[in-house]
Amino acid sequence: MLKISNVTRRFGDKVAVDGVTLEIAKGQMVGIIGRSGAGKSTLLRMINRLTDVSEGTIACQGQAVSELNGPALRNWQRDCAMIFQQFNLVPRLDVITNVMLGRLNQRNTLMSMLNLFPRQDILRAIEILERLGIEEHGPKRAEALSGGQQQRVGIARALMQDPRIILADEPIASLDPMNAQVVMDTLRRIHDEDGRLVICNLHTLDTARRYCDRVIGMRAGKIVFDGRAEELTTAVAREIYGADADFSEEATSTSIETLSRPRGAATRRPELVD
Ligand SMILES: Nc1ncnc2c1ncn2[C@@H]1O[C@H](COP(=O)(O)OP(=O)(O)OP(=O)(O)O)[C@@H](O)[C@H]1O
Ligand SMILES: [Mg+2]
Repeated sequence: MLKISNVTRRFGDKVAVDGVTLEIAKGQMVGIIGRSGAGKSTLLRMINRLTDVSEGTIACQGQAVSELNGPALRNWQRDCAMIFQQFNLVPRLDVITNVMLGRLNQRNTLMSMLNLFPRQDILRAIEILERLGIEEHGPKRAEALSGGQQQRVGIARALMQDPRIILADEPIASLDPMNAQVVMDTLRRIHDEDGRLVICNLHTLDTARRYCDRVIGMRAGKIVFDGRAEELTTAVAREIYGADADFSEEATSTSIETLSRPRGAATRRPELVD
């Protein structure tokens, strides 16, 4: 579905992404891991065209994404929704309006600013909030929600665009383990139930192993691992993180693993976490 060919991105002298070639098909949830500065965000941002490539090409189903501009670029950005670590909601606006802003690209800006949303958009936003289990928060200001709830609003806003691809840049980095799990479960469900391609930048090995089918490891702008989650051994992790013999997995761990349970099982209460 996505074909990334020999893509490089430079910022001045700094090479953030260095000759990356990748093919990503639908049907596998993809995690990108690597230490800070490895180039994970830059890679996602080039796919979405928030950042342009310096060299190389990115194509999706035969369309040269890296060449698009004007309305075709806006269509691509709608088709390829981003979810951010810091949620990027409008804090003072209510949740339902935040979700409907996901349609902004497709609608008249003035109408959106005046909060004049078509009934069908309102109904769709409510339906998505229900699906993500946060409909009761619809009328509240976004800033009144917990981090995990706000990130689910971020996901709802992305779904409002009905994207083919969801790019999540460290979606759980600001969350506690309990909320992190709810958000990752939500992304996995969207992948499984909707058949959307989900690519997720993650700081931690255990989350990547647990939720992703395919894991890509980046180091200094290059891909140093690309395989199934089960192949992500401690030795491989050492290579990705560039750590020496005293490398310990805990150093890259959120304590999400302490909540370990089969996918889809009932959620445990936060006070039960060690
Ligand atoms: N807009 C920019 N201007 C200058 N340098 C940049 C810019 N964006 C990224 N870089 C540099 O490119 C390199 C890769 O950055 P990137 O944000 O892609 O890493 P990352 O893997 O997402 O790191 P983190 O885990 O900290 O989010 C870093 O050295 C960073 O300083
Ligand atoms: Mg980043």
